Amino acid sequence: MQQQTMTKVTGLRADSDFFRFEERDELDYQLVLDVLHGRRLGVIFRSVIPQAARKELTDRFWRSPALRHREGEPSHYVGAYHWNKSTATYLDETAEVIEDVKAVIDVPGSPWATFREGMAQALAQEGASLRLAEMNGRSACPALIRAWDQPGQFSLDPHEDSAQCQDPRQVGFEIQNVIQHSICAVNMCVEHTAGGRLVVWNIRPDDEARRALGIELTGIPYPPESLAEFDEIRLDIREGDIYAFNGAFVHAVDANTGNRSTVSYIMGFTGADTVVSWT
Ligand SMILES: [Fe+2]
Repeated sequence: MQQQTMTKVTGLRADSDFFRFEERDELDYQLVLDVLHGRRLGVIFRSVIPQAARKELTDRFWRSPALRHREGEPSHYVGAYHWNKSTATYLDETAEVIEDVKAVIDVPGSPWATFREGMAQALAQEGASLRLAEMNGRSACPALIRAWDQPGQFSLDPHEDSAQCQDPRQVGFEIQNVIQHSICAVNMCVEHTAGGRLVVWNIRPDDEARRALGIELTGIPYPPESLAEFDEIRLDIREGDIYAFNGAFVHAVDANTGNRSTVSYIMGFTGADTVVSWT
């Protein structure tokens, strides 16, 4: 009989006061600031995207000439992502697609624009500002619009968003400074059929855990059995919801049927008074 050795995921577990989602029926940017400052795990705002905006954005996404299919971490998407590539490649890909991204998100009642303005105002009250991450005068992508479509237990495998920010091919890109602060993943659900809950485990893996799994620079996948010992949250996501959470904790999207389309980006402090976003 073959004995399989299971890699133990080492790292930081949060206390129960931290490890929970705050839930509201209207946008409250102070709660997102709490995530950015590392004071809470996450927050979800229910049904805050206007119905017409959801529909228009979804239509534009599926009709976009820039719609692509991503292998490996399967999804349909419009936009560019920095994961597992050089900064130059990411910024080149962003430049190619940015007008298509804007064409999708710039709908009347755009949740991207509403949330962005609200965050910028809340940050301004504490003397901080929000902008796209940049390097050598070139900007990160404002958003990635995507629909995960992997069949099975998870439509997006367990992973975290921190490992990808220490890729040596991206040294000098300011997003690498966010690792010292909190990584805040922002998702806006514009289309949803069934399933596709957000799953978050109470473990923030360290480098040793990533090395043992051979995912030091990608942060994906964490085998589900290696996460069984940790507390988890399974959060229903519905059309119209906006949620933000600390992406350094292992998270996934569980099985979903039909389309589950979101507008997303990641943001974080690079210093005392600057928050940058990227995809
Ligand atoms: Fe993620």
